[in-house]
Amino acid sequence: MVSTLSTSLKEKIEARRANVAVIGMGYVGLPLALLYIGQKFPVTGFDIDRRKVDTLNQGGSYIYRIETSEIKDALTHGFTATFDYSRITEMDAVIICVPTPLNEYHEPDLSYITATAEAIAPNLRSGQLVVLESTTYPGTTEEVLIPILEKKNRGGLKASRNGASTGHEFFVAFSPEREDPGNTSVARRDIPKVVGGLDEQAADLAAALYGAIFNRVVRVSSPAAAEMTKLLENIYRCVNIALVNELKMLCLCMGLDIWEVIVAAATKPFVFQPFYPGPGLGGHCIPVDPFYLSWKAKEFDFRTKFIELAGEINVGMPYQVISEVMNALNRQKKALNGSRVLVLGVAYKKDIDDLRESPALTIIELLQKEGAEVSYNDPYFPMIGRGRHYDLQMKRTDLNDLGQYDCVLIVTDHSDYDYQEIVNESQLVVDTRNATRGIKSDKVVRC
Ligand SMILES: NC(=O)c1ccc[n+]([C@@H]2O[C@H](COP(=O)([O-])OP(=O)(O)OC[C@H]3O[C@@H](n4cnc5c(N)ncnc54)[C@H](O)[C@@H]3O)[C@@H](O)[C@H]2O)c1
Repeated sequence: MVSTLSTSLKEKIEARRANVAVIGMGYVGLPLALLYIGQKFPVTGFDIDRRKVDTLNQGGSYIYRIETSEIKDALTHGFTATFDYSRITEMDAVIICVPTPLNEYHEPDLSYITATAEAIAPNLRSGQLVVLESTTYPGTTEEVLIPILEKKNRGGLKASRNGASTGHEFFVAFSPEREDPGNTSVARRDIPKVVGGLDEQAADLAAALYGAIFNRVVRVSSPAAAEMTKLLENIYRCVNIALVNELKMLCLCMGLDIWEVIVAAATKPFVFQPFYPGPGLGGHCIPVDPFYLSWKAKEFDFRTKFIELAGEINVGMPYQVISEVMNALNRQKKALNGSRVLVLGVAYKKDIDDLRESPALTIIELLQKEGAEVSYNDPYFPMIGRGRHYDLQMKRTDLNDLGQYDCVLIVTDHSDYDYQEIVNESQLVVDTRNATRGIKSDKVVRC
């Protein structure tokens, strides 16, 4: 039997009258909120960071690729931001986009999800749809989120299971985020959205909610299947990147150019997808998410050997970069200790303003540890302050006098840089991204 609560929420969604809450106004949540605003839904963004809430309510933006004009426009179309969780009661659909990092022991840190669930629960009302989007291990929605929502709500509400209707139910689904920051080749609307509901009604509602902003919704049988789908996608990337990183090191020994080889292999019109080597993994997803699964696997006495091996290789890449810099300087009869090194690009990938887990940060720390005098340049970061794992306190240097550096180290291949000019003006360029492809010069070392 279809609950009247679910029918009435579906009608509200289809009429664009459903109040949508997006919790976590970060890289995932804010663009999502804007998509719903674009489809004329009334949207409220929740965040515990008051600076973000104030900035948004004043029409400002703190994400490089989101223009302030978009926020100002959203405010005139029913968008507001708040840190007041009592306003959850006014919402019809609640989408959770809070961080899921690893703790210092490399284990899942679900504290943001549990804190969010604790804050929602007392304000939950029957008939609401709650969707978790944060990347996490299979089982989180059912084993962590739902128990808190059920235990801590004030009306004895239960998550709808097996379509049974009591009039006291709310609906729960998991739907992973698939954003690829900086990728402009696929319109956000064209990225299919995977959805796993706790029951058919929750799946229907979540499919209706996402169907309003995505062209295709892919339904899977459960929240756990949707959670696992996201991890498979990221583990696939992580393992393949480790494979090319390992092959890159072999190619360096053999005097081969791995980039040339990958480009050639990618001409195969079937069953080969190119992955590219680099100075190490970065970003919130690829270095982090696979370990959510390996942690969960231990509960089943299962070792995820591919994930562990890929992790080992990828974590070693910044050290390989340091040894390449040392060797390159050595060939010029210089030691890294005391050398001036300019790190070009600190974002974790090209053309984005995200530093999280960037290998550049590890590389800067390792260079400093070896006694190098390190400067950096990145168009997106005027300074590097303090993050979860580092405290560098550095200010960006300009590119006026590249000849003063013993080594210019390209860590992130931003499109803004003129690589020919960089090579012309530098004494030595170590390139970890193949940014100098096509430039012939003895000064360039590709690694
Ligand atoms: N950034 C990406 O490209 C990307 C892609 C796919 C999936 N994801 C996943 O999406 C989730 C969110 O990532 P993100 O990049 O948007 O993170 P983020 O750090 O940019 O944003 C998270 C926001 O949540 C807020 N927050 C934390 N606790 C809160 C609470 N209790 N209540 C309200 N707000 C709270 C933070 O202040 C922050 O503004 C993570 O699980 C991540 O793995 C991210």
